[in-house]
Amino acid sequence: MQFSHPSISGYNRSTVPRNSIQQLSPALVNRIAAGEVIERPASVVKELVENSIDAGATHISVEIEDGGRILMRIVDDGSGIPADELPLAFASHATSKLQSDADLSRINTMGFRGEALASIGAVSQASILSRMADAPNAYEINNRGGQIDQPQAAAGNVGTTITVRNLFFNTPARRKFLKGAGTEFGHISETLIRLAIPHPEISFELINNGKRVLELAREKSQTRWIAGWPEDFAESGLPLDVRDAEISLTGLIGQPELARPIAKNQYIFLNGRPIRDRFIQHALREGYRGLTEPGRHPAAILLISMPPQDVDVNVHPTKSEVRFRDSSRIHGLIMSAVREKLLGSNLVPLAVPRLSASAPPQDSERKELRERLAEFFKSSLPDSPPAATVPAMPSIPPSSPLPAAFPLPTPFPREIIPAIQLHNSYLVAESDDGLIIIDQHALHERIMYEDLLARVSRGTLESQRLLIPVTLPAAGRQQELLEQIQPLLKRVGIEAASIGPDAVAIHSFPTFLQRLDPVEFLTELLDRGEQETVAPNQEELLHEVLDMMACKAAVKAGDPLSPTEIDALLAQRHLIDRSSNCPHGRPTTLRMTLRDLEKQFKRTGF
Ligand SMILES: Nc1ncnc2c1ncn2[C@@H]1O[C@H](COP(=O)(O)OP(=O)(O)OP(=O)(O)O)[C@@H](O)[C@H]1O
Ligand SMILES: [Mg+2]
Repeated sequence: MQFSHPSISGYNRSTVPRNSIQQLSPALVNRIAAGEVIERPASVVKELVENSIDAGATHISVEIEDGGRILMRIVDDGSGIPADELPLAFASHATSKLQSDADLSRINTMGFRGEALASIGAVSQASILSRMADAPNAYEINNRGGQIDQPQAAAGNVGTTITVRNLFFNTPARRKFLKGAGTEFGHISETLIRLAIPHPEISFELINNGKRVLELAREKSQTRWIAGWPEDFAESGLPLDVRDAEISLTGLIGQPELARPIAKNQYIFLNGRPIRDRFIQHALREGYRGLTEPGRHPAAILLISMPPQDVDVNVHPTKSEVRFRDSSRIHGLIMSAVREKLLGSNLVPLAVPRLSASAPPQDSERKELRERLAEFFKSSLPDSPPAATVPAMPSIPPSSPLPAAFPLPTPFPREIIPAIQLHNSYLVAESDDGLIIIDQHALHERIMYEDLLARVSRGTLESQRLLIPVTLPAAGRQQELLEQIQPLLKRVGIEAASIGPDAVAIHSFPTFLQRLDPVEFLTELLDRGEQETVAPNQEELLHEVLDMMACKAAVKAGDPLSPTEIDALLAQRHLIDRSSNCPHGRPTTLRMTLRDLEKQFKRTGF
């Protein structure tokens, strides 16, 4: 082959000297391997604290100087290491945690590779001081960048102290890339908290430049869990505790409003090991679907326990990723546990009047209210559209007057009685302890969505055949997508099929979306589907389609509403799940308490 580029054509094979293949020295092998395991001071702390946990310690102390650059010392009161095994502790591929090949498939310790201490020793000046409970004294062994001395008798308590000085002293490139002491220390304390959360039976302390900055006593699980969360999250954590025959899921999940653009407040543990896992993160997000804005990560502390043989922990150099044998089971378990918890909880403490905030309607109450209202409105969502009025509110017949005899006042919170519409967009009502402001579109959208979901779960949505099918251009990926979602579209009342490589025809369309242009609707749906990077599963797709339908069919900002419609809308708010947020996760309701008003008007001393 001829190369025209000068630097390539000038590359002459014969001028490149070839060296013979050589076995690397063990010290160099370790230094290279250390690059994988030890990225920064926090990695050292992680490995050493994991070792202390594996050694059965009940107290672990971590001492840091200069962000870990000068010194890291981990002291534990665990089992200790016998003097004659100290050189092996620093050797690579040497571990007490795997005794046979088969053990690799049922790991129940944090460590298993026999690699961490060798790696740390290869890139620092490290020492192990250790004493077994039945030994008269301790022994110490030093390792200077891979040069390991003989163990010497020394004074020391039962347990193990590992000291690591001058990290990366012999790998200057790594040392240069370390960030400032504050940043590195931040990583260290975050790492320690992650390790401490699933181990409330161990007390921890963290000392930075001689000052104790963190102290975690032995405590109850729940108290320890919240140690990792910002203080104001603590109160609002919703406890999870579900288990099947083999898997248990415990922890806390945060109110939807605590979701953040990054997954900073998410702590996931598998059998006590902090892990990152995009399936679990996805399951969590799905559980919050419709309660948080897309792309936001809910706050959660999830502790999953399962038989070690059902998960492979040997897939990542820092052991922070795992592979589940049956990931869809874990996904389903987490998603449904989270969803169920959220449905049973009051989610918007600052946007719901106290009357309902303190006691969200029980299922039986809710059912009764729903039945009574349904009786009044005949049906909460007529299958055929209401008489042509603008705006059409399919779930609330616009012309129904409220009969005087309708027994609303007793069971319903006050806010539904007098409410006014402002700027044809917001509803303002008095609540038990102040006032609430409702975004009419967002609330109606949620009501429609819940109604549609209930209908689809009972059967197919009613649709109308178009006299003349309408067509839209769609090719390639969009055609594939259509084929995939055809059965789902049918369930929601849309019949559409390819009529050649570049076009699609719509044959029927849901009755209640009569006001919408079918071509516009399907075009938008296919466009959105095409932009998804991860192929959504059938359930996600169904939600997506229902979201779109609800959004398009709901009253809009700017639509005037009659007093009857306003009342009906507010009444329905108490009958549906997740009324606090629209299906896109934005709030439907904001609350202002009398106390807030007094504060703003400076009527009190606050
Ligand atoms: N704090 C400690 N207390 C008691 N024994 C320890 C302690 N730290 C290390 N050891 C012993 O030294 C061995 C080597 O530790 P190292 O961290 O290098 O490997 P590992 O924990 O077995 O596996 P991994 O490389 O996955 O961490 C351990 O298997 C354990 O027997
Ligand atoms: Mg280890």
